[in-house]
Amino acid sequence: MAPVACDDIGITLNVNGGEHTIVVGRGATLLQVLRHDLHLNGPKYGCGLGQCGACTVHVDGVAARACVIPAAKVQGRAITTLEGLGDRAQPHPVQSAFIAAQAAQCGYCLNGMIMTTAALLAREPQPSVRAVRDALSGNLCRCGTHVEILAAVERATLLMADIARDEGSAP
Ligand code: FES
Ligand code: FES
Repeated sequence: MAPVACDDIGITLNVNGGEHTIVVGRGATLLQVLRHDLHLNGPKYGCGLGQCGACTVHVDGVAARACVIPAAKVQGRAITTLEGLGDRAQPHPVQSAFIAAQAAQCGYCLNGMIMTTAALLAREPQPSVRAVRDALSGNLCRCGTHVEILAAVERATLLMADIARDEGSAP
């Protein structure tokens, strides 16, 4: 067991529906805890400054940048990472759409693109092109796959509308 430093604190986080009590450095960010302590590597470390979107997670369903959120501040909140959105056996429709659209080159930005899109479609199932562009405008893609990413979002929108229709929750 690792020694406990005097500036360590114990925190309990609700991540992907499970409670995790861990000892972390007082200044640990949510991203550090997710990747290093909980081994959830969906959220990526990009800029570390809240400016690229690679680290995006959901906090109570809202897209948020884990690299600038102190882990201790989100105790009691529902945190969802890419792993909690869906998995290989049961992917979230947004994940399925991004795979089908082959919207990746290096893939580093995709966690943020997918998490931001999922949060957008949860609150606005039929967003305009402008709304999609606005929502994703803070997510940087250095590979320039924006066209494929926008196609993936359009595909995800249609897929989720089909699912909602099948489930009887849409007209
Ligand atoms: S790593 Fe968090 S916004 Fe860039
Ligand atoms: S696919 Fe490489 S950063 Fe977007």
